[in-house]
Amino acid sequence: MIFMDEPAERRPTSGADAAELATQLREVRSRTIRLTEDLSSDQLMGPMLPIVNPVLWEIGHVGWFHEYWTLRHLHGEAPLLDRADRLWNSSEVAHATRWDLDLPDRAGVFTFLSDVLERQLLRLRDGIDEEAAYFYELAIRHEDMHVEALTYTRQTLGYARPKHLVDPPARGAGASPGDVEVPGGRWRLGSTAAGRFVFDNEKWAHDVELEPFRIASTPVTNAQFASFVAADGYRMREFWSEEGWAWRERGAAGGGGVFPRRPSGRLPRRERRRGTAPASPTSSAGGLGANKLPCAGTPTSISPSMLRSMSGRARLATVPSAAGR
Ligand SMILES: [Fe+2]
Repeated sequence: MIFMDEPAERRPTSGADAAELATQLREVRSRTIRLTEDLSSDQLMGPMLPIVNPVLWEIGHVGWFHEYWTLRHLHGEAPLLDRADRLWNSSEVAHATRWDLDLPDRAGVFTFLSDVLERQLLRLRDGIDEEAAYFYELAIRHEDMHVEALTYTRQTLGYARPKHLVDPPARGAGASPGDVEVPGGRWRLGSTAAGRFVFDNEKWAHDVELEPFRIASTPVTNAQFASFVAADGYRMREFWSEEGWAWRERGAAGGGGVFPRRPSGRLPRRERRRGTAPASPTSSAGGLGANKLPCAGTPTSISPSMLRSMSGRARLATVPSAAGR
């Protein structure tokens, strides 16, 4: 079911009024602009990678989402750009094609974003009811998510840290070694409708039974992940389950997961870039990473907790604790 098709009473909002929504619109847009305005036109497109979007496409998509759900769906306005749906409807535009679209140039995309925002702010001056507020909150939270995506895109592509947007890493902060034990039991998962906006994939709160498990205490850093790659960690039997290793041995993991190596043992340049591309050796492998210390860069520094958390931004719990087996 598409959440927006549900009756209005099933679409909870935070209760923010029109003035608060206007403030939130300006704030999130400020972050989007500060994450992108310093990039060159070439950087705004970047190389075609399966894990990121071209930045120019992505910010246009953000503006389109606002326009589609608020100005058009809610207020019945005509599209600001005739071909906007063909360019930026992410349900329709295949990822690999997003580098080859007839996008407006950078000035055109930034103008589109500001035009949409200006019209939203004008609409909000008249006040808003709760049903309409839902669509503004939807668009704001959607932009929040793309702010996060733009952040990791910058890091993936090796672009410099944007100035004046985040604090530098705190000295002394950093990754903590080892795992934490999480006891099993009943856990409330999901959101309730009590006074806050929720996405459809958070609906609704329900209890689940959790087995005890262990999880790395902090996200993996780029330096840790680089150590893992350098040590050929992906091929180490000890870090796989029986089932996983059988899958690995069948060759299922050979296509995309294991990079060919040169005799020197170094990864080819392209794979080095695609595979690790740390903007900073101490930053988190998945975010702007403001709080990580470098780990010892040797194969012996790889711990099970590093491997368990190597799959990106999330720390994944994949190994039941002894108590849970
Ligand atoms: Fe999106």
